[in-house]
Amino acid sequence: MTASFDHPDVVLCPGGPMLLRGRGRPVEDADGEVHLTRRPVNAVCRCRRSQDLPWCDGTHKLLPPDKRP
Ligand code: FES
Repeated sequence: MTASFDHPDVVLCPGGPMLLRGRGRPVEDADGEVHLTRRPVNAVCRCRRSQDLPWCDGTHKLLPPDKRP
């Protein structure tokens, strides 16, 4: 079986979020609460500074480069 990477399910954006493909996928936050993805492509925060955790709200763009994920 050959895997296709044309449209990977998970993409780590350098200095930014993790993109997760697909609706209804579970994402567990730091408190153990499970959130389900709601969009065809979902941005999951990796810097932990979003005001909408576990989702990325763009706050990572305000961080100095050495503080970005
Ligand atoms: S990665 Fe975007 S706000 Fe944290």
